[in-house]
Amino acid sequence: MLATKNITAEELYKKLKNIKIGGTFCHFSLKKCQQMLPLIHEILELKEKKNAIILTHTYVSPEIIYSVGDFVGDSFELSKKAMETRATTIVFTAVRFMGETAKILNPDKEVLIPSNYNGCDLADDITAEKVRELKKQFPDYTFVCYINTTAPVKAECDVCVTSGNVYKVVERIPNDKIYFLPDEMMGLNLIEEFKKKDIKKDIKFYTGSCCVHKEYTLEDVLRDRIHYPKAQIISHPECKPEVCQNSDFVGSTSQMLNYLKDTSAEQFIVLTECGLSARVKAEHPDKNLVGMCTLCPFMKANRLEDILRVLKNPTNQDRVILDKTTIEKARRCLEKMFEYSK
Ligand code: 13P
Ligand code: SF4
Repeated sequence: MLATKNITAEELYKKLKNIKIGGTFCHFSLKKCQQMLPLIHEILELKEKKNAIILTHTYVSPEIIYSVGDFVGDSFELSKKAMETRATTIVFTAVRFMGETAKILNPDKEVLIPSNYNGCDLADDITAEKVRELKKQFPDYTFVCYINTTAPVKAECDVCVTSGNVYKVVERIPNDKIYFLPDEMMGLNLIEEFKKKDIKKDIKFYTGSCCVHKEYTLEDVLRDRIHYPKAQIISHPECKPEVCQNSDFVGSTSQMLNYLKDTSAEQFIVLTECGLSARVKAEHPDKNLVGMCTLCPFMKANRLEDILRVLKNPTNQDRVILDKTTIEKARRCLEKMFEYSK
């Protein structure tokens, strides 16, 4: 549990003061913490009264993670947490597809999304109708979707994967013909990984991409290698294959954080959204980060004000509402992931 009911402005400031990245999103003063405190206390009280849990993705603004968040993690960890919780309301502070995943796994719970601007480049890249078309075109293929997809898209697919288990899950699928969607970069990374391990599968992929991760180029990596020869470069599998190939470690946001925590390099460069660098600064201030990071506008659209609003007075737009058939079919796709990733 991250949130503590009687948190003071000083305690919050202590946690946030080292974070100086991502412009105004991630710069904190004691005064700013003092100003946020009444709002934070109101959320914490209401959360308890409503038996709610606040799940936060690493990419959301740090004042949310460290003041009202009960759990922070990557998409796989968050979906597991959503499955285990006894709370009757889940406030999912991330992007809509993650809230939908929580609803698929907890159809009887109320799942609330506090952001009004909660798309995701990848999830918005493909529709269920397009998947149905592709399935007609490639009838012998197992359709594998990245968790960054809408519930109706999951409902059309056979197996789901996350950035943390994609290689393991696809390797274990008994069919050698795989159609992977929607992330082209992850599809290409999958092909490269299987080539390295001499795993023979025919992998086709869709052409989606993430605006945050596609920004990083091989030129950035090669330049950083010259400027920071002692730095380890860590990247996310949504990055381009040539970026991943030239990184020291590739993994989900939580795997990246764990790698960094357990590695004694002099410097690190993390090629992902700024939220990960913020967590490193807050939780491992001794680690030396260099280089740049990129902001995800969708994740950063979550605000404390909206968390309070949805707890107080949720509208149907704030609720995740899915029909029974979509939930049942999408759940099967997620359960296959849990089965293959054991
Ligand atoms: P993780 O599951 O690695 O946290 O990734 C989610 C995501 O949206 C990355 O862009
Ligand atoms: Fe979607 Fe990219 Fe943002 Fe992740 S970083 S939520 S993939 S837009």
